[in-house]
Amino acid sequence: MSVKEPTEGGSGGVFRTKSIEQSIRDTEEPEHALNRSLSALDLTVFGVGVIIGTGIFVLTGVAAKEHAGPATSLSFVAAGIVCALAALCYAEFASTVPVAGSAYTFSYASIGELPAWIIGWDLVLEFALGTAVVAVGWSGYVRSLLDNAGWHLPNVLSGPDAPGPFGFDLLAFLLVLLLTGILILGMKLSARLTAVVVAIKVTVVLIVIIAGAFFIKAANWRPFIPESETREGGSGLDAPLVQLMFGYEPTSFGVPGIFTAAAVVFFAFIGFDVVATAAEETRNPQRDMPIGILGSLLICTTLYVAVTVVVTGMQHYTRLTIDAPLADAFKSTGHPWYAGLISFGAAVGLITVCMILLLGQTRVFFAMSRDGLLPRFFSKVHPRYATPYRSTILLGCVIAVVAGFTSISELAELVNIGTLFAFVVVAIGVIVLRRTRPDLDRAFRTPWVPVLPIASVAASLWLMLNLPGETWARFAVWMLVGFIVYFAYGRGHSRMVGAADRVDDLPKAG
Ligand code: ALA
Repeated sequence: MSVKEPTEGGSGGVFRTKSIEQSIRDTEEPEHALNRSLSALDLTVFGVGVIIGTGIFVLTGVAAKEHAGPATSLSFVAAGIVCALAALCYAEFASTVPVAGSAYTFSYASIGELPAWIIGWDLVLEFALGTAVVAVGWSGYVRSLLDNAGWHLPNVLSGPDAPGPFGFDLLAFLLVLLLTGILILGMKLSARLTAVVVAIKVTVVLIVIIAGAFFIKAANWRPFIPESETREGGSGLDAPLVQLMFGYEPTSFGVPGIFTAAAVVFFAFIGFDVVATAAEETRNPQRDMPIGILGSLLICTTLYVAVTVVVTGMQHYTRLTIDAPLADAFKSTGHPWYAGLISFGAAVGLITVCMILLLGQTRVFFAMSRDGLLPRFFSKVHPRYATPYRSTILLGCVIAVVAGFTSISELAELVNIGTLFAFVVVAIGVIVLRRTRPDLDRAFRTPWVPVLPIASVAASLWLMLNLPGETWARFAVWMLVGFIVYFAYGRGHSRMVGAADRVDDLPKAG
């Protein structure tokens, strides 16, 4: 890939870049400007708010039971390292290009328009499906709490996994609509609400760690890395791509199982990159962004490893449950009271995750629309609340419907592959931007460039390869649709196309 000097109003190739100065200037147009109100603490709270969620509360059970046993704690370390490498790249980008849109904006400024489009399209997948996945997980916890209180929703309103020919997840649907309304009212309200919920969620996680430590039986940790087993049944394509590529017999557990589990629990870390999407709404992005991103990641990794060590010590991994492993581990030790408390905390906590993923989604869409790659109609901000209300309403409604009709597991893996792909592009972007714009002010500089970004690319690709072949196939289809939309609409309508370019470009685009 050849890298061009940044051009403005660019001459028309798909690698035309939008200069950093242009990106920042665009945010200053009054009718397309967002409020700058967030501090480093708000960002860290935001990060923790979105990072801790379905991953630790739900996916830990599947990872330990089906892929890695007690060694799932090592899977969290592995996934945490992949994210830390990516975070160091994100932090440089976010502090250099402090405008809405996260990896999308970063790649537009460094690699070019088509890669930026690809990444934006990919982030739509990450955030929209991520929101839906978490809303469905939330609905499961709420239903279990309602069941405890003796209220049972009919199966037909309990989601597609409930018994019966048809199921609509009413609670997930309503949650997404409610959060859409809150986001339209403005960032500050959302941030305050987030802070309260994050406090409840972190308290519950600490209760799991501290109270659970008293119920650990060391025998449950043996064997720490269960011996590898041949995987039974399935379509074949459900095995990790790396095993399919090299012709290995698909297996679970053992050392490879640790990486398979890492690719699953990676979902638990998604969110620190969302902090970067709020750059344009941050008071002092140069200083606050790196603190927000790296701080929230460090706090969460520590908590995850501790939770996994405790939970696999409380209950043998073969007996952990899939739906509510943390709460059920307490039930298994004869403490249902703690279980109820944990379910409550999870139900409350997942709300913030859902809200921030939805926020990230609307901001990426906003940035893409402001650049003309999607209709500009969606980038008008609300005259009173200064929020991108049109894109928020559109996406909120679509995601609410998706959440009503989908089940969690496969979607989570699709979200993971999309996010890891974004990490790859951002890491490459850091190297490219250092070459093309060495003059830029970088409040935070990624250490050891290009070695660290290259390590980040390799680590992200490795986790991607540990995802199932069918997840790769779905991802390929989504990206193909993205290419079609870009060449049919975005390429011709981009703000980077001057009047003359439009005439030149359109026929070629067809
Ligand atoms: N990291 C978030 C979660 O685990 C997306 O739910």
